[in-house]
Amino acid sequence: MGDLLAGRVAIVTGSGRGIGRGEALALAAEGAKVVVNDPGVEGDGHGGSMAPADEVVAAIKAAGGEAVANYDSVADWKGAQRLVQTAVDSFGRLDIVVNNAGVVRRGFMDELTEEDFDLVVGVHLKGTFAVCRHAVPVMKAQRYGRIINTASNQFTLPKGRAAYAAAKGGIVSLTYDLAWELQNDGITVNAVAPFAATRMTAVEGGRDAELVAKGLLSQRRLRQTEARTDPAMVAPMVVYLASDHAAHVTGCVFRAGGGKIGQYCHPVEVRTIFRNEAAEGPWPVAELIDLLPRTVLSGETKAPHI
Ligand SMILES: NC(=O)c1ccc[n+]([C@@H]2O[C@H](COP(=O)([O-])OP(=O)(O)OC[C@H]3O[C@@H](n4cnc5c(N)ncnc54)[C@H](O)[C@@H]3O)[C@@H](O)[C@H]2O)c1
Repeated sequence: MGDLLAGRVAIVTGSGRGIGRGEALALAAEGAKVVVNDPGVEGDGHGGSMAPADEVVAAIKAAGGEAVANYDSVADWKGAQRLVQTAVDSFGRLDIVVNNAGVVRRGFMDELTEEDFDLVVGVHLKGTFAVCRHAVPVMKAQRYGRIINTASNQFTLPKGRAAYAAAKGGIVSLTYDLAWELQNDGITVNAVAPFAATRMTAVEGGRDAELVAKGLLSQRRLRQTEARTDPAMVAPMVVYLASDHAAHVTGCVFRAGGGKIGQYCHPVEVRTIFRNEAAEGPWPVAELIDLLPRTVLSGETKAPHI
């Protein structure tokens, strides 16, 4: 066992399987005491089982680490509160939160239901918000914290999963905002957009062929998806962000998986026009019809992936 995170206490949501499992094991291997959160649901959010969280707790203990299980849904406000309380009650503090829990629901916009939207946004976005909301007061009192949220490349590179993309985009904005808000509290907030071959990518597998047939997904991107690899490959970046070495890193979004680590740039305004200060009222649309193609729209007029 390493000691990079000795004395630290971590929560990893959705860590009974997949990427979260790898993150929980890696944090524990560096000395962190871990709350393994997972209600053990199916890939689409149905069902539930204590077995996945219990298995990861047993694996951490077998390797000489300390861990406890928690089976609450992060989408449940009180469940998120109980999860944070589990860390404090079990280990006396809370230093690291990895918001990883996730579900997917298949379907294009005209197929998705209100229930699909509520479930996907509830687990990813509300779940991330809820766990942060309960963890931040504990971290502020300690004047120390590491929050690592889980985005997806689909916050910027869509794939026909409107609710999922919306939730992941929300998580990126939440990350930017919290990093700013907590910058003087010893708390860093970053996001990782992982990639790995997990149950979640398998759930989507059949749909990718449909996307290729519709011309919405290239064969190259399909091959990239199929080459996704061991979920454990994501964890080292999360361990780094959780450590003291990353005390100066906050408000950043990274890509990690399959032996690759990258950093996304922060979105910036690239072309701007200003109305003459002396002009009164809103900009006349007729003027914009003339002006915009020569100015703001003189570069790209479509998102890069379209
Ligand atoms: N696998 C990839 O390539 C990939 C790509 C981009 C983003 N992600 C993100 O990584 C994270 C992990 O995904 P994965 O691929 O390991 O999927 P996974 O299905 O293997 O694991 C997700 C885990 O989250 C748990 N979970 C679901 N609902 C929950 C809830 N309400 N509360 C707590 N836990 C809950 C599940 O039980 C499961 O164990 C997700 O946020 C996902 O969106 C994965």
